[in-house]
Amino acid sequence: PRVAIVFGGRSSEHAISVSTAGSVLRAIDRDKYEVLPIGITHEGRWALVSDDPTRMAITDGRLPDVAQVAEAGDGQVALPIGPGSREVVWNEPGAVPKALGEVDVVLPLLHGPWGEDGTLQGLLELSGVPYVGNGVLASAVGMDKEFTKRILASHGIGVGTYTVIRPREWESEAGRAAARERVGALGLPLFVKPCRAGSSMGITKVKDLADLDAAIDEARRHDPKVIVEAGVSGREIECAVLEFEDGPRASVPAEIVVGGGYEFYDFEAKYIDSSEVQIPARLSEAETAEIRRQAVAAFEALGCEGLARVDFFLLEDGSWMVNEINTMPGFTPISAYPKMWEASGLPYPELVDRLLRAALR
Ligand code: DAL
Ligand code: MG
Repeated sequence: PRVAIVFGGRSSEHAISVSTAGSVLRAIDRDKYEVLPIGITHEGRWALVSDDPTRMAITDGRLPDVAQVAEAGDGQVALPIGPGSREVVWNEPGAVPKALGEVDVVLPLLHGPWGEDGTLQGLLELSGVPYVGNGVLASAVGMDKEFTKRILASHGIGVGTYTVIRPREWESEAGRAAARERVGALGLPLFVKPCRAGSSMGITKVKDLADLDAAIDEARRHDPKVIVEAGVSGREIECAVLEFEDGPRASVPAEIVVGGGYEFYDFEAKYIDSSEVQIPARLSEAETAEIRRQAVAAFEALGCEGLARVDFFLLEDGSWMVNEINTMPGFTPISAYPKMWEASGLPYPELVDRLLRAALR
């Protein structure tokens, strides 16, 4: 089969997506799959790119970029809209469009808005091209930390306390005052986050309310909708879910061990300093069974398809709380999702093959 691997994108997780694509390009079986690599630039242009994974890694703290792997001119890759055709075309300004052939399936390796949030999935639905992973609704809900919590809570799954500051509210004095009052009731510390972003982009831990406004302004640089969550003390445990022929299954869980000097699992701790991921997490058998049960329940609650990584806190009283769901989790060399499956007996190349086969069914 012919696979279009789409990565990069307009979100602040662009570089992480490039790193994810590099890892997948290393793992995919080239004897079985023909790859058409398509990078989306920061500006949103779909470019034909190299399929050389060595140019897509995070090296010495330097972040990779689609522009550095783009190969052919100023053109733009286009998918035809409307069912029936899976032909991909290459449009060069002033030139006759060139057919790139048909693709059987798209692997959208995008993180964050305009890729992991249902927008790309909607385009692929309109085009009638099969794609890997979650559909429009699960992607959109999973991208939005407010709606994720609302759906999970309605299914009896634990989520933390939070308040949402909507775009218009922060734009008036009265709105700001009301928002500050709700936030004040959450106690300290607080986590101020863009409601729809990932890789810890734009997140600030606030230990003093004097720093609240600056934290909200920072989050708003990523998303005008901001969520403020009460800080919790507990262990950070993640669980990978993958859909098999007979339904979704959960992997062995992983524990995030944030390196010294970091207040929380922020972008630098994640990708630059490579915090340690302990797999399997040191949990009792009963705890492991419970997180796996809840991970699958969360997957089902959002109507997920294909894959998701569910991130939890194990609180001091022994209860679980979902922090968030990632509907296209990272596949970078340090990412937990493929490692959790490896530890569960599913090697990386087989994981990629399984995802593609599910989309082709
Ligand atoms: N949002 C990043 C890629 C993750 O959750 O792995
Ligand atoms: Mg995330």
